[in-house]
Amino acid sequence: MTPRIILYSGKGGVGKTTIAAATGLRCADLGYRTLILSLDIAHSLADSFDLDVGLHEKNRGQPVAVGERLWIQEIDVQEDVERYWGDVYKYLALLLNTTGLDEIIAAELAIIPGMEDVICLLYINQYLTERTYDVLILDCAPTGESLRFISMPSTLEWYMDKLFQLERNLARVVRPIARAVTNVPLPDDSYFQALAGLFTKLEGVDTVLLDKERTSVRLVTNAEKMVLRETQRAFMYFCLYGMAVDSVIVNRLIPAGEGGEYFQKWITTQERYLAQLEQYFDPVPIARVQMFDDEIIGLERLRRLSEQLYGTDDPSRVFYSERPYEFTKTDGQYVLSLKLPFVTKEHVDLFKEEGQLIIRIGSFKRHVFLPRAVSRHTPRDARFEGDRLCITFER
Ligand SMILES: Nc1ncnc2c1ncn2[C@@H]1O[C@H](COP(=O)(O)OP(=O)(O)O)[C@@H](O)[C@H]1O
Ligand SMILES: [Mg+2]
Repeated sequence: MTPRIILYSGKGGVGKTTIAAATGLRCADLGYRTLILSLDIAHSLADSFDLDVGLHEKNRGQPVAVGERLWIQEIDVQEDVERYWGDVYKYLALLLNTTGLDEIIAAELAIIPGMEDVICLLYINQYLTERTYDVLILDCAPTGESLRFISMPSTLEWYMDKLFQLERNLARVVRPIARAVTNVPLPDDSYFQALAGLFTKLEGVDTVLLDKERTSVRLVTNAEKMVLRETQRAFMYFCLYGMAVDSVIVNRLIPAGEGGEYFQKWITTQERYLAQLEQYFDPVPIARVQMFDDEIIGLERLRRLSEQLYGTDDPSRVFYSERPYEFTKTDGQYVLSLKLPFVTKEHVDLFKEEGQLIIRIGSFKRHVFLPRAVSRHTPRDARFEGDRLCITFER
């Protein structure tokens, strides 16, 4: 089987690591060789599995077995940056140091933001090529950073196209002159070779990430206003980027009748948001997980969570692979195309509210979070094309 990739993304603290851990455990139980890879520098995966600190330290940054067919890996950015970015990193640190920065600070600053994303992509591509695992579960950093992570392949491509050629030519011309007049070092060829080598190692990873039958994003959220807003925004970004969100997981739901009066307001609030979820994410499946009576640590509790989440289902299955909506730009006008669960010719009501487009057709209601570029435009024309609704925006 071709390796399957599942990304868990969401705001900090919503339960990404816990859910990634529970999912990995279930996959391993089902017979898949599974690796859970933590992309968050604030790693907590080992804690979820209640891993022995000594064992963990000994294998720092590398995959550690936590069960039969199950491994976890918490990437050690500093160490891997030196291994993979060695020459690039050395040059940057040297450059910063000559500008008068303390050597230790220079070394710290030479870690370009996004480098850790590249390191993760390198590992992913290596595991895909070597087919080390059947299922790769990515426990992502909080939303903003995980969005940067998925756009990294195209960012790098841009960098290579635009800057790499330019810099390389510039260095050839300037190096001899610069050597004579200044002590600012210029990159030598090993720097460029390192960059080119890196690209070879990353080849193809972007195609896999965009392949809806192989890679799915699962958004973890809580039934609270601010968390949900962030989830809606992430949903929009992943859609724009062309990645398939195959489920939304609402975690930490307080079971009705629990907690006495103290939690009653919480329960009411959560129920209110739960009632709206379909308007935000439908037709993407929505799963629910209760708030446990204690933190979720260790195999026994993780298994209980995976039972709640997946029942007897196989979590490595693709739950949904269509694009719920799409934005395109034609003749300077943005068009939103949205898949409807039915075919109709009924009247469509459109209104904008807090950066969202609210679409109403009879009793059907959808909220679509608008990208910044589109949110300044006004929705005008709505027409049906088969089971899709196309909305044109005007300035
Ligand atoms: N459904 C739940 N019930 C009880 N505790 C939970 C639940 N989901 C997560 N937790 C706990 O909340 C804390 C944060 O969860 P974590 O998975 O680390 O969040 P994230 O990775 O999104 O930052 C952990 O201590 C975890 O055990
Ligand atoms: Mg986490």
